[in-house]
Amino acid sequence: MRRRQESAPVVSAEGFAVIATNVRRRFNDREVLRDVNLTIEGDEFVALLGRSGTGKSTLLRILGGLDTEYEGDVLVPERRAVVFQEARLIPWQRVLANVLLGLRPGEDGAGALKAKGLDALGEVELAEHARDWPLTLSGGEAQRVALARALVREPQLMLLDEPFGALDALTRIKMHALLQRLCERHRPAVLLVTHDVDEALLLADRAVVLVDGAISLDVRIDLERPRDRGDAAFVELRHRLLRELGVEERPPRSTVAPSEASEADFETTRLATTSPGRRRSDDPTPPPTI
Ligand SMILES: Nc1ncnc2c1ncn2[C@@H]1O[C@H](COP(=O)(O)OP(=O)(O)OP(=O)(O)O)[C@@H](O)[C@H]1O
Ligand SMILES: [Mg+2]
Repeated sequence: MRRRQESAPVVSAEGFAVIATNVRRRFNDREVLRDVNLTIEGDEFVALLGRSGTGKSTLLRILGGLDTEYEGDVLVPERRAVVFQEARLIPWQRVLANVLLGLRPGEDGAGALKAKGLDALGEVELAEHARDWPLTLSGGEAQRVALARALVREPQLMLLDEPFGALDALTRIKMHALLQRLCERHRPAVLLVTHDVDEALLLADRAVVLVDGAISLDVRIDLERPRDRGDAAFVELRHRLLRELGVEERPPRSTVAPSEASEADFETTRLATTSPGRRRSDDPTPPPTI
């Protein structure tokens, strides 16, 4: 039996943000992660897909140092930030205080720290909300605060667990563009857990699929940006990923070309709709067959 980790993972090898080797995690008698091997380069954006309950969040928590009860070897950088599906803001702290949560002023003082927080809020276009209370924000705004809170830590590795899963389709499109801009500017490595195959294909450099506790598919997404959902290579990759996930795509509801189809049509590739708890009330499409 491999050794169990006693402390948070250590700093990764040069050039890599993640090197995970033979990672296993069991809860009681149930082995959730059986043998995960995953590397992520220093500025790579990897999407992690998998059916509900396959252990995506478990893996993300291990990489984030939030779970140390695993077996195997994990190397990650020191500066990591995690963003979850819910913004997890503290309601009795104003927006700026939420962004700076847990950070202490450095040698340059409290003013510099505040300026950093305001810069991060500016990057997510919320500078004017710095003094607002979290409960006055929309879901998309709250999630942008969560992104600012991650950014202000200047992470070498961003771990995003379905960060846009609870947002409406339009807000999600805006968040995709924002995340892309932030990644281009800051170049962190990113691991994005998502149920949305299109989201993975729009944003990531690579997509990996977790099946039965191990990575069963690891594909490079060599498509020019901005990406077109109607592009033949995009469609082919979507089929490949959905096949791996055991999802049958429904035939299109109308005869319009993919590029003209509504956002709702693209929701057919959104596996989150299979999970009743995560299904948005405004989602007009039935779940895909799985
Ligand atoms: N602390 C825990 N104790 C016991 N079982 C757990 C614990 N955390 C996770 N599990 C179990 O491990 C399995 C994987 O959970 P995990 O949250 O990683 O799945 P997931 O792939 O992220 O699913 P989803 O897509 O629904 O978010 C589930 O069956 C879950 O019940
Ligand atoms: Mg999860």
